[in-house]
Amino acid sequence: MNNIMKKCCLSSLFLILSCYMMASLALEQEDKNQASLANYNPVLSADFKALLRTADVAAGEEFFMRKCSSCHDEYKSTTHGKGPNLWNVFGRKAGTSEGFAYSDAMRQSGHTWNFATLNYYLTRTERAVPGRIMNFRGIRQDKYRAKLLLFLSTMNDVPPALPE
Ligand code: HEC
Repeated sequence: MNNIMKKCCLSSLFLILSCYMMASLALEQEDKNQASLANYNPVLSADFKALLRTADVAAGEEFFMRKCSSCHDEYKSTTHGKGPNLWNVFGRKAGTSEGFAYSDAMRQSGHTWNFATLNYYLTRTERAVPGRIMNFRGIRQDKYRAKLLLFLSTMNDVPPALPE
């Protein structure tokens, strides 16, 4: 490789690195600027509601087992893992399952879990509850969140109706 090529390679590497750093800084900034569930009441888009109606609950369970079950189990029980028990999480006020040591952020966020708040939280957990101690960043793709939410809604004594 001649010297000019080396220089060229190095400067493109530098460029790529700086772009990457700028992008991640921008993302962090975005997380800080955007609303947390303590002061924002999200609504579901019509597209997302349509996804929920066609989602495959078995695929949602499989997704839960892969992404969530290391910290949460899917059973009706009163014990906790690394994360709180999620049975009956729909309709529950955030941070209130007895016997789990939540972060102050989660305990004080004040919202109730439903399709819209869970969807918002699971998109970017740190944006939704800044200071949360759940070590899971979020799920970018709507279709994955939809099937997961559908499965989560079955983890309930009385599964909630899908949003109209
Ligand atoms: C690395 C462990 C870990 C993983 C993986 C994880 N969680 Fe959590 N989760 C936690 C912890 C810890 C908390 C408590 C957060 C706090 O107090 O700030 C929590 C809190 C929650 C809450 C709020 C519950 C309540 O009682 O208010 C929900 C809902 C939730 N997690 C859903 C999920 C789902 C769905 C997944 C899979 C996509 C998942 N979590 C993956 C550890 C985890």
